[in-house]
Amino acid sequence: MDDIVWHAHKITRAQRSENKNQKPCLLWFTGLSGSGKSTVANALDVALHNSGYHTFLLDGDNVRHGLCRDLGFSDEDRVENIRRIGEVSKLFADAGLVVLSAFISPFSSDRRMVRNLFPAGEFIEVFMDTPIETCEQRDPKGMYRKARSGKIKHFTGIDSPYEAPERPEVRLDTSTMSVNECVEALIAYLGHRDLIAVK
Ligand code: ADX
Repeated sequence: MDDIVWHAHKITRAQRSENKNQKPCLLWFTGLSGSGKSTVANALDVALHNSGYHTFLLDGDNVRHGLCRDLGFSDEDRVENIRRIGEVSKLFADAGLVVLSAFISPFSSDRRMVRNLFPAGEFIEVFMDTPIETCEQRDPKGMYRKARSGKIKHFTGIDSPYEAPERPEVRLDTSTMSVNECVEALIAYLGHRDLIAVK
């Protein structure tokens, strides 16, 4: 690291976002498997994209097919998973994009680490606070069933911990809110914070 010198680019972060006529930010969706992270992040992505915003969506299941294909679900690997996603999210935000990242990200310290990569107000923690009973009932990928029968080890919420955020910027519960209501709440938050223009 000591022998690597940071190279200052000619085009700044501010110029990149100015060209896109938008403010960059990172919406960080955290929550249990089946809590609705990907569904809500996708729906918000569609809504923002259709309104003309330049966005990018990073999702646990997809990223683990490429960038993080070498990582498993030990505590150590999850830390590295989130570190990489945090850095990639930062690069996309530096490019001027509104970034949506949907990862279980079970450890508070890792989420804090990503938060600290961003200027104040640009990291928006979205806690999908859906009760585990609902997540397990949905079991969209049959993972909880496998975890209960011992076929998958270290499954979050079963035999691996999830540290719930204490002060998330936005808290959503898809057992009581529809996907549309969640998207509306997020758009209202972004508008309120002046991150998007309210139409
Ligand atoms: S994280 O903990 O490192 O943030 P990430 O969001 O990338 O997890 O991946 C979670 C996805 O991997 C889940 O949606 C689930 O489909 C799958 N998965 C496979 N094994 C596990 C496991 N042991 N714990 C949690 N998710 C798992």
